[in-house]
Formats: sequence, structure tokens, C-alpha cells
Amino acid sequence: MAADRAPPLKPLRAAVFASGTGTNAENIIRTCQDLPQIDIALVVTNKPDAGVIKRAEAFGIACAIIPRMHGKAAQEAAMLHTLQNADIDWLFLAGFMQLLSADFLRHFRDAARGVNRVVNIHPSLLPDFAGKDSYERAYAAGKSRHGVTLHYVDDGMDTGPAIAQATYTRTPDMTFAEFCAAGQQQEYKIYSQFLRDLAQEHAYTAEGKTWAQA
Ligand code: GRF
Repeated sequence: MAADRAPPLKPLRAAVFASGTGTNAENIIRTCQDLPQIDIALVVTNKPDAGVIKRAEAFGIACAIIPRMHGKAAQEAAMLHTLQNADIDWLFLAGFMQLLSADFLRHFRDAARGVNRVVNIHPSLLPDFAGKDSYERAYAAGKSRHGVTLHYVDDGMDTGPAIAQATYTRTPDMTFAEFCAAGQQQEYKIYSQFLRDLAQEHAYTAEGKTWAQA
């Protein structure tokens, strides 16, 4: 194993960002429980009543509640302060209903990858149905194929480079709830696969030891 691509045997530290019920957040936390290379050290929400707060509590993960009370710049500064204090390397967005500014994102720039170390799950096959209420709009459009996209985050609205997509079929009798539930299963699947890949990439040391052997 070439020493120059070898990271130290230290977990990546990540924060999950969510504004809603947090089923994706829970999937991320559960997936990483089996991945010693990724430590979900923090949950961040901008909604004081978000369901994700209780989920974080149930897993014993600290949750920072940082609403946009005094404008976006002040909120992002507060988030950055919290993330830097917790030594966070990666952000996993999961239903976080807010755009992040270029100035905030530059703190997570990964020059080698050419992306920000910030990932988001979006409930459509981007670039189709970018923005809010994607399941609603796709269902109303009567599409028989729908899907979800995992992508790196930039400061645009769902415009960052795609990591993975998964599609599924809408059967003629599918209710809207079933349509969303089927999509969410795909969301969990591709997010988990990405996390396993990221952990794998982080799995080797200069000595060629894996995490399992360490
Ligand atoms: C998901 O459908 C995700 O794709 C979208 O917001 C929803 C969050 O759901 N960005 P949950 O809170 O993870 O259940």
C-alpha cells in the first residue's frame, strides 16, 4: 500500500443536518454504527420542533438546534462554530430545508476530490424536479419512473455533482403515500451505500492494516 494515500487510523467525524422527522438521519446513524471509520458526532437542525431531535437523543448523539433567528449569516456562523468545536470533517444532509452559502461551504472544501465534503439526498432524478416538494410534483405529473439522487452540495439549489441515483416504478394503483415510501427506501439504500464506500476508502493505513485488524 502506498504510504502517500494512507490516512491515519482515525474515524472521519461527521454531522447529520436535518429539518424534519429524520428517518434518513436515523438510517445514516444506524449505518455508521457498523462502520468504525465514520463517527456521527453531531446532529444539527434549524427547526426547534423537528422530529430528528428525539431520534438523536435516542442514539445518545448531541443535537445542536440552530434556527435562523438573526439572519442567515449569523446562523451559519453559529453552525460553523459548533462544527469546528466538534472537529467535524463531513456533513450529511438529510431533509435539511435550507441552502448553504458558498462562504459556509468553502470550510468543507476537498481540493483533491474537487467537491465539498457535504452530501445531500434529493427525492428526484436530478436535474428533474429540483427544489421543494419533488414527490408531490412528480406524482402529480404522473411519471411511471421516478427516483432519488445523492449528490455533493454546492451553493445552488440541488445543483452539485451527482454521486448516485436509484430509480423505481410507480404502479398504476400506487397512492401518494406509497409513492413516497418507495422513494424513501431508495434514499436509505443509496445513502448507506455511499457511507460504506466512504468508509472503505478510509479503511487503510500506511502499514496496510484495516480497521478490523487494528
Ligand atoms: C426526504 O425525502 C429527503 O429526500 C428530502 O427530505 C425528506 C426528509 O425525510 N430532502 P426524513 O426527515 O429523512 O424522513
